[in-house]
Amino acid sequence: MEYRTFGKLDFRVSALGFGAMRLPTLGKYNEIDEPKAIEMVRHAIDHGVNYLDSAHGYHGGNSERLIAKALEGGRRNKVRLATKMPTWAVKSPADFDRFFEESCERLQTHRIDFYLLHNLQAGFWANVRDHGVLAWLDKKLAEGRIGHTGFSFHDSFDVLEDVLAAYPHWTVCQVQYNFACEDVQAGTAGVVFAASQGLAVVVMEPLFGGTLANPPPAVRSLWDAAGKDPADVALRWLWDMPQVATVLSGMSTLDQVKRNIASAGKGTGTFSEHELIAAVREKYKELAAVPCTACGYCVPCPNGVAIPESFTLLNQARIHGGGVGQLNRNLYAQMPKEKRADACVACHKCEDRCPQHIAIADWLARVHLAMTGK
Ligand SMILES: NC(=O)c1ccc[n+]([C@@H]2O[C@H](COP(=O)([O-])OP(=O)(O)OC[C@H]3O[C@@H](n4cnc5c(N)ncnc54)[C@H](OP(=O)(O)O)[C@@H]3O)[C@@H](O)[C@H]2O)c1
Repeated sequence: MEYRTFGKLDFRVSALGFGAMRLPTLGKYNEIDEPKAIEMVRHAIDHGVNYLDSAHGYHGGNSERLIAKALEGGRRNKVRLATKMPTWAVKSPADFDRFFEESCERLQTHRIDFYLLHNLQAGFWANVRDHGVLAWLDKKLAEGRIGHTGFSFHDSFDVLEDVLAAYPHWTVCQVQYNFACEDVQAGTAGVVFAASQGLAVVVMEPLFGGTLANPPPAVRSLWDAAGKDPADVALRWLWDMPQVATVLSGMSTLDQVKRNIASAGKGTGTFSEHELIAAVREKYKELAAVPCTACGYCVPCPNGVAIPESFTLLNQARIHGGGVGQLNRNLYAQMPKEKRADACVACHKCEDRCPQHIAIADWLARVHLAMTGK
């Protein structure tokens, strides 16, 4: 495992961090397959991963509980724990303590090493800022209940500048970043700027929620011709940037954990696939449909529409075409009517929560058209 600088801290972070948002389940998102997930987390720690990322809401709160179980038996002091406050759910200053204490209780810890404001975008940032979150963070730092503060971020560069200027004690800036999303949200400019301000840049969605590792045939053929594994190259592309502290992968199987640890072990300076990445990036631009990563932040829809599932049907059909297109039209026809895209009443509530800022109501209308021809 390679270890890297973590902002201004005297802490060497593993190049690979463990994102606990996509743990293996028994079918439903909130029902984690505990034996498998515990084995994965422990394997990662035993092979050098020292940064775990969770959130109050992941797996309905069970991600934090699972981590506590995985750390039983002496692994707690081998890792730094990051978890996050659901900024969109804060209704009053009392919620800060409530969410924080719930996370501590689930994680079975008195102190959170890195406490992050989750999913900062302009509206959620204004919400917590106006409820006094910065003074609350100062208090928790002084009490020693929080080791360091930070935020995960899903908005434009100017909003990032605003957030950074508002508080001198940020340590962690977590951003969505990968070779296919250089210009999305704060993008490369945000990564470089946050690092220049002394923050530890933690990357999330390095494989764009797994989609970069499972490319459509037109993209897969580029990888195959080069004899390269897309996940390995996508991760090493990130580690090639000195501004990146650690890369979180939301691994879902033990095999993925092992493969990503192997990639992290190759070390900085091994990335040389610039032309291949450029060709793959161009091919994706040609194929692009809805920029949805199926993170699920848009749900529950007040009207019950299955939003990520609808976009997945459209994206798969658009990218893979042929048999997948027909299969997905059949799947769409079989969906309960109240979950289908045409059940959207365009209230737009989901759009405030979407980290990708997708015009969801518009796209749902396009899903329905593509899936039914009407
Ligand atoms: N704060 C926020 O707003 C926010 C938002 C998003 C993520 N996060 C955090 O960042 C973490 C990382 O983001 P992410 O989960 O989207 O990461 P990611 O690495 O982009 O996607 C994870 C998915 O990639 C696939 N994968 C991983 N390693 C692979 C390999 N070696 N080969 C093939 N496929 C592989 C798996 O998908 P399949 O199993 O489907 O193949 C896995 O579920 C999250 O877990 C979470 O902790 C935070």
